[in-house]
Amino acid sequence: MRTKIAGIGHYVPEQVVTNQDLEKLMDTTDDWITERTGIKERRFGSRQKETTTTMGAEAASRAIEDAGISKEEVDFIIFATLSPDYFFPGCGVLVQRELGISNTEVGALDIRNQCSGFVYGLSVADQFVRSGTYKNVLLIGAEMHSMGLDFSTRGRDVSVIFGDGAGAVVLQPTEDENSGILTSHLHSDGRHAEELAFISPGCHGGYHGQPEQYGFSDDPYDTIFITQKMLDEAMIFPNMNGRHVFKFAVQKFPEVIMEALKTAGYQPSDIDLLIPHQANLRISQFVQKVLKLRDDQVYNNIQKYGNTTAASIPLALSEARDKGLVKSGDLICLAAFGSGFTWGASLLKW
Ligand code: COA
Repeated sequence: MRTKIAGIGHYVPEQVVTNQDLEKLMDTTDDWITERTGIKERRFGSRQKETTTTMGAEAASRAIEDAGISKEEVDFIIFATLSPDYFFPGCGVLVQRELGISNTEVGALDIRNQCSGFVYGLSVADQFVRSGTYKNVLLIGAEMHSMGLDFSTRGRDVSVIFGDGAGAVVLQPTEDENSGILTSHLHSDGRHAEELAFISPGCHGGYHGQPEQYGFSDDPYDTIFITQKMLDEAMIFPNMNGRHVFKFAVQKFPEVIMEALKTAGYQPSDIDLLIPHQANLRISQFVQKVLKLRDDQVYNNIQKYGNTTAASIPLALSEARDKGLVKSGDLICLAAFGSGFTWGASLLKW
């Protein structure tokens, strides 16, 4: 028994934000962003109408319809995001409510693996399906980054990269030997945790050795989740050591893709379509070059949507499928690298 993607869908908000729009907010240029990241524009959700959950629910509805099932047939929900509506509860239960799934037999799990959240979620879903536990697992990756970025010049290295969007799949068991997930490989290295991170507000206290840097006191009754110092000094945004991330990404992407190919008995030339997490076009191009893949073997859409973290792979896969670039029997490779660091790859037959 294998796990197949039985339905897929994506959603992006209407509002297009171009590099020229960002030029008006911060000291940046279209040339800088295009040359370093490949991004020309991204989508931002409507702050009053959309959240990570609502975008995820829209993508999920499309995936459910594409699978030809009813929402009440979903028996497990997995939601991957780094920009949840609430600190808790997670978006898994919120999307259950948003979709109007009243069946309480359904479990809801939240995945916090940032850019590799979808690949991690796929592997978790695969275990549940292959073990016979669930028949229709709904896996969603969604992000509302625009709510938490620093749009001043101070935050320009991070804020020009990220965009909002959602993608979802329905996973079902199949006995067809020529379709489904062949192998998944997951990795992590927590030594790089703060190199791409959103640590404050948070409950880290003095754990990182510099409590005073964040304005944490020693008083056990002092609320320290968010301090005045964090607000005054604009510490409440994500931070990234771009060069460090780039260096590891270009090493780990090819490594984990080769690991998956080798396990399943394939070579890079056998890949019909590689969908790398849309971190940065330069990273994808580097991976393509190392693996000696033709242009038609790699799908990128970061130019239009920016980096949508947990949403990027299902969003790209869904768009590629809609364009007719994914056909029955194709060998598809999904690969991700990101914050943690965590990385992984899945190989599947469509
Ligand atoms: N516009 C204009 N200038 C910018 C800028 C922006 N948006 N962001 C940073 N700069 C400036 C820097 O301040 C720096 O100026 P200085 O030389 O005067 O100090 C200069 O550009 C170079 O900065 P640097 O960070 O060294 O650039 P880089 O070549 O490493 O490119 C990234 C920056 C972020 C594009 C690059 O490191 C990268 O792609 N990293 C991987 C990021 C990624 O993929 N993240 C997602 C992982 S899932």
